[in-house]
Order: sequence, then C-alpha cells, then structure tokens
Amino acid sequence: MTVKAGKPKSRLDPEPLPRRDFLGLASLWATAGALFFAALGMLRLPRTAVLSSPSKKFTASLPDNLAEGEAFVPPGRATAIFKDKEGVYAISTICTHLGCVVKPSAEGFECPCHGSRFHPDGTVAKGPAPKPLPWLKISVSGGKVTVDEGTTVKEGTKV
Ligand code: FES
Repeated sequence: MTVKAGKPKSRLDPEPLPRRDFLGLASLWATAGALFFAALGMLRLPRTAVLSSPSKKFTASLPDNLAEGEAFVPPGRATAIFKDKEGVYAISTICTHLGCVVKPSAEGFECPCHGSRFHPDGTVAKGPAPKPLPWLKISVSGGKVTVDEGTTVKEGTKV
C-alpha cells in the first residue's frame, strides 16, 4: 500500500466511490428526476389549455370628426370602420395571406408582414394576399356601431 505524500489520510475522509457505484447512483438520480418532471407535467394536464378569447362582437362610438372614407380602428380590435354618404361599413384588418394585422393608409391598407396592399374597399391591389379583406356585419343604433367580427357580409354592404 502506498501512502501519498502531502496531506495525510484522515479516518473521516470518505471512501472513494467506485466508478460502477457512481454510474449506478447517477442513473438512479436521472430516473428519479425524469419521473418527477413527468409527474409535474401530468399535474398540468387536467387544466384547460385553451384560453377564452374576447367576444367577436363589440360596440364602438364613431368619433364625431371622422372624415368620409377615413378609417376608425377601435383600440384592441382588428376592424376598420368607415362612414360615407351611403352609410357605415366595417372591413376586417386581418390580412388574408398569413393573418397579420394590416394598417389603414391613404391608399387603402398595407400589410407590414409581406407587403400586400389592399384598396380602400378591401380588394387586393398587390399580393401575396390571395383574397380581399372581408367586410363584417355591423348594425347602427343610437349613434353606436355594433360589429360582429365573426360574421362576414357581401362586399359593399353598408348600413
Ligand atoms: S400576412 Fe399580410 S402579406 Fe403576408
């Protein structure tokens, strides 16, 4: 038996762990960790993974100074509301390409994602958007406009 020079071995020093025992303990801890996180994941399963979305119907008051043909986008909504001599109408601002929110502009609508452009009536001026922006069902009562973002109407429908 050789005694290393330097620090003398104390009887309190732990016995060196053989490699085989170390690997056995490591695999035991890895298995225990995997089971723990699997159980943690299973605890989350009973909860619903679908979040409730806001109602597709909303009511908004148009600004008094809204010019004819000027878009009014209620905060937090993806709908542009317009008024002109023939009535009030609403156009969805969800791009028909991949669903980005288009921005109203002087020439109609512009999509910031891939550059689609739409005429003021929602028809496509420049792709890649394949379809026009849908017109949405609205009703007007007592100066307030109720828009149903879940229901489309024929283009040109004004109330
Ligand atoms: S999402 Fe609008 S152009 Fe692609």
